Order: sequence, then structure tokens, then C-alpha cells
Amino acid sequence: MRIDIITIFPDLIKSPFNNSIIKRAKESNLVKIYFHNPRDYTNNKYKQVDDYPYGGGAGMVMMIEPISKCIEKLISKRQYDEIIYLSPDGNKLKQSTCNKLSTKKNLILLCGHYKGVDQRIRDHYITLEVSIGDFVLSGGELAAAVLCDSIIRIIPGVLGDQSSALSDSFQDGLLAPPIYTRPSDYNGLKVPDVLLSGNTSKIDQWREEKSLEITRNTRPDLLKD
Ligand code: ADE
Repeated sequence: MRIDIITIFPDLIKSPFNNSIIKRAKESNLVKIYFHNPRDYTNNKYKQVDDYPYGGGAGMVMMIEPISKCIEKLISKRQYDEIIYLSPDGNKLKQSTCNKLSTKKNLILLCGHYKGVDQRIRDHYITLEVSIGDFVLSGGELAAAVLCDSIIRIIPGVLGDQSSALSDSFQDGLLAPPIYTRPSDYNGLKVPDVLLSGNTSKIDQWREEKSLEITRNTRPDLLKD
């Protein structure tokens, strides 16, 4: 998979890609990530990429020209499966979207800043708008990092144990059951007997029951879906 990230603050987002699972995915060539700065696509001598909104109002708007030129250059070189804009008013990110995106070959992620990007970019180029939740960040970079992490970790071959990704919360529409590791008794705090029983069908049944119970208590909205 190739991911091209368009951002005016590349340093804000580089570190998550140089650690842990994503770092390994990059080293194994399962994912390639490239950064593009709209400031490199403007003829403005001050490298200005934002301007006042037509019609007035607070905040600045990211200008159409630098972003358009950047996207045009990318799409002239290869076919992209999705051109994604990170925005608080996008579609709320769900595991099902991450699963779908993890099968794609080429993605562009556009990070907004200030009040956002000129609407014509959204109308003309963007194929998917993604929000990571009902709150506003100061820019799309952290949201892009969240989206990339959630996609890359489930690309086949990235996680050592593929069944691990399938047992995540949300993969079956439920929250994950409790997990434990050694010791089985820590100062009287004990691991449930069933997990030590070696009886796999009983363990599966216990985990399913716990998943349901936790989902019912914490996220009953998931059961409605
Ligand atoms: N940019 C600012 N806030 C955001 C959010 N909640 N999700 C995605 N992009 C954003």
C-alpha cells in the first residue's frame, strides 16, 4: 500500500510512523508513506497557503491552488483508490471503513488546518471525508495518524499473529473481553479459573459472554447496529 499525506505540518505526524508496528510495516515494504507540503506548490513568494474567507467570518481557509496542484501531480502519476479529507464534519471512522481501506493500493490523505480547505477541493477531488470523532482537533494530522495506524495494522502480514487483529474490539461488532497474563495469582488477585482450564470451547463461550456483557454496559449503541 502507498499512502500520500498532504500536510503543511509534516513534523506533526512523522513520529507515529517511525515506531512500533507501522515502522515494521514500512521496513517490510508492506506500506510506503510519502509527505507533501502544499507550501511547495505555491508561487506566492511568502509561501502563503491560506487566505480570508469570502463572505467574511472568523478564521482562515486553505487555498485551492497549492492543494489542487499537489493532488494533480499525484493523480497524474498513478490511480488512487480514495482521496480522503480528514475533517470533523466527515463520516465517523468505524472498523468496517478501516477494514475496507486496508485492502486498497493507493490512498491520498489531505489534512485540513485553520477553518478547513476551500470547498472546491472537497467537491472536485475528495472521494471520502473521515472524522475520528465528534470533537475538533487543531488540524487533520493527528486524525490522519489515527486513520493510518488503524489501516496499516490490519494489512495482511503486518501483525505477527493475524488472528490478533480479528479478535480486536469492534471486529465482530462487540468490545473485547478481559485479558490476563502471568502470574495467575497476584497477591490474591486471581485470573478467572476458566482461562486456566485448558477447555477451549468453555473459554470461547466465556469470552463471548464477557464481550456481550461489557458491550451492553459500556456501548449499548453497538448492539443496536
Ligand atoms: N480535523 C479536526 N478535527 C478532526 C476530527 N475530529 N476528525 C478528523 N479530522 C479532524
